[in-house]
Amino acid sequence: MRGLLLFATLGLAAAEDGLNAWLRYARLPPDIAKQATVPLNIVALNTTETSPVYVAGQELQKGIKGILDRSLNITHEASEGSSVVVGTIAAFNNSGISIGTPELEQDGFWLSIKGDTVEIVGQNERGALYGAFEYLSMLAQANFTEVAYATNPSAAIRWINQWDNMDGTIERGYAGPSIFFKGNAPVSNVTRVAEYARLLASIRVNGIVINNVNANAQILSDANMAGIARIADAMRPWGVKVGISLNFASPQTFGGLNTFDPLDKSVIAWWTKITDKLYQHVPDLAGFLVKANSEGQPGPLTYGRTLSDGANLFAKAAKPHGGIVMFRAFVYDNQHLNERNWKDDRANAAVDFFRGLDEKFDDNVVVQVKYGPIDFQVREPPSPLFAHLKQTASAIELQVTQEYLGQQCHLVYLPPLWKTILDFDLRVDGEKSVIGTDILSGKRFNKKGLTGYAAVVNVGQNATWLGSHLAMSNLYGYGRLAWDPTVNEVEILEDWTRLTFGLDDTVRETITRMSMESWPAYENYTGNLGIQTLTDITGPHYGPNPQSMDNNAWGQWTRADAFSIGMDRTVKNGTGFAGQYPTEVAAVFEEIETTPDDLLLWFHHVPYTHVLKNGKTVIQHFYDAHYAGAETAATFPTQWAKLEGLIDKQRFDETAFRLTYQAGHAIVWRDSINQFYNSLSGIADAHDRVNNHPWRVEAESMTLRGYRVTSVNPFEVASGLRIVQTVGNSSSASVSAKLNFTAGTYDVAVAYYDLYEGKASYELFLNDKSIGSWVGDNEYKLGYTVTRGIDGHSATRITFKGVDVKEGDVVRVDAKANGRETAPLDYIAVLPPGVVD
Ligand code: GCU
Repeated sequence: MRGLLLFATLGLAAAEDGLNAWLRYARLPPDIAKQATVPLNIVALNTTETSPVYVAGQELQKGIKGILDRSLNITHEASEGSSVVVGTIAAFNNSGISIGTPELEQDGFWLSIKGDTVEIVGQNERGALYGAFEYLSMLAQANFTEVAYATNPSAAIRWINQWDNMDGTIERGYAGPSIFFKGNAPVSNVTRVAEYARLLASIRVNGIVINNVNANAQILSDANMAGIARIADAMRPWGVKVGISLNFASPQTFGGLNTFDPLDKSVIAWWTKITDKLYQHVPDLAGFLVKANSEGQPGPLTYGRTLSDGANLFAKAAKPHGGIVMFRAFVYDNQHLNERNWKDDRANAAVDFFRGLDEKFDDNVVVQVKYGPIDFQVREPPSPLFAHLKQTASAIELQVTQEYLGQQCHLVYLPPLWKTILDFDLRVDGEKSVIGTDILSGKRFNKKGLTGYAAVVNVGQNATWLGSHLAMSNLYGYGRLAWDPTVNEVEILEDWTRLTFGLDDTVRETITRMSMESWPAYENYTGNLGIQTLTDITGPHYGPNPQSMDNNAWGQWTRADAFSIGMDRTVKNGTGFAGQYPTEVAAVFEEIETTPDDLLLWFHHVPYTHVLKNGKTVIQHFYDAHYAGAETAATFPTQWAKLEGLIDKQRFDETAFRLTYQAGHAIVWRDSINQFYNSLSGIADAHDRVNNHPWRVEAESMTLRGYRVTSVNPFEVASGLRIVQTVGNSSSASVSAKLNFTAGTYDVAVAYYDLYEGKASYELFLNDKSIGSWVGDNEYKLGYTVTRGIDGHSATRITFKGVDVKEGDVVRVDAKANGRETAPLDYIAVLPPGVVD
């Protein structure tokens, strides 16, 4: 009963599944709500139900009801006085309401709040809707100030890319199946599609490409075009235009021609016809996204044509319809890169391919450039291609889905990473050329109206959209930065937290602190000094596997040997990549002395004993950073625990589970990377932590029943280089050991491997008393790319807190293998308070 009462006073919703993300419109406490001056009516200056202004009216009604518990009527006739009026400039002018708005740019809006009169004036319908969301965002954050201002987007293109396959899977998606496709066709139930469009409109995203860049030509069938139209209809009321990815070989593979040569007349005619047909289905189709001659995809180079020949083929077809072509700069040849050639470098590819083409692209082509020269790594320098596209419009490609950044199982707040790129001044021709405010805004090279942002998001059917509640700050942050790249990343977080979890100070401070610590921590425990995320490059891109980076043609090399590490990208002695930057920037990266430590190994090959600007050697920095990163991650579950009761139980529990998992996996990362470089370099950790774990009992040294000792691949993901697995598919096996720790209260952690296809079960005992039990079923809970191997992806830790242990106690794990899972165990750690190991 007491619990119930407390619940009621705090006004917490019983369960929240995350579906409404930052648009929950949670009721404000009455004492706060009563300070708001609320208009009596809503006037939406459009009567067409599918228009964004009409939708804005309804959203205002819903939001004000939710936040302030006031029921407002909606009318469509102009009235002054106590009302919130939303409409376009043109509608305001027609209605006779006098407005003194400054000049607005496309999608911009004017917001004026004065007493109980609110005016939301959009340059267009979309802008008006954005203004309505802005007003609601203020109310939801209990910000009742009077304002009068105009805001305009930094760039015209603010798009999402979804890498959804037509069979309903999502490439690099970690939140369940597609909301757009099912069974090789666009979905017929578009409820989630419309809900997604609502979220996107609220962060001012105006376009979305719904299918994978590795595109299936079948999307161009008549039935599928009708399906795309259905999706476009669901998103249009929210001002979000739909675009599609094209497969370059479609004329041949789908159209039945014997060529897809972009200069062939029949190919040109084919694309023109297909494009015309698409625009009959979707008259406002945003345009096309094209991945060509990249990672095995077909493209113009197949016929000895240029990339601009390829892009212009689509541009000419789309031009009469007002469509644009986003042509990806992610062009490289993963067949012929040769690590033995010191000068070979995948990072050079984009500029090498596009350098001579700047004047060749049609004016409705936008080159879409990943933020760094390689591929969404934990740290990269900005792509130098932004400095070479002067005649051609460019857009930056960011990644909200955390492909190399923990796949939403690790909290990694990305705006600070993106800001290292957006705030970077490329100094093109010796002049200020900041990527966000000068280049992507279109100002520097006079491309206004055709530049901007694309983010690979990959939401899925999971109620949380991305698989994790906290990961949604990245989607929210993306929208905020695309609108205004100068907005502060902490401010973004604080707004997002208030909207997502309410106004409590502790909640806001905790989530802000953890989020701001998260990217540096992840960089620390995965790959630092610019060496990239040291993950499994040929596999899931998730857990540690440093050796997979080298000796293949993917070109994400570290060139690590027994003595030295890093890519020499200098002009004087290396791949020449540094020279792709404008002179002033090139000079900085050319020299070790001027290259910042965090990009050292990106640009230079140095001995492990090289001394950094921070006074440490490279190898000691590796060790220390990995320890520091895992220690930060270890604080996350503890910080989060303080929020119990301050937020709803469902989101509290789901997040607690992920943060606890992350803390364990951060230790997997730390130990694997440190063990690997320690073994490669033979240089000991100055603090004697690497391979020295006084609080661990290795499974291979325990008394085994129904278990056998094995090694694993890669070797470094096993503490002590060995693990144990059940013999055959034993249904009853155990490991046990006598503990030699002095009496006290410890946290007991068990390191095991949670594989795909199998749910082994485990129970931990101390002197025959059960401490806890668990099942290896993370493949159903976490969403990262699962493997069937005992490796850095499946390595997992579970921790039982506050266990009283005496010297001589016997610790035991009973296990039952299941399916493929041979209940693999690595070690048991008995940790005194404060020890992270
Ligand atoms: C990465 C990613 C692929 C994707 C590719 C791209 O390499 O792993 O899944 O297709 O980028 O951006 O085209």
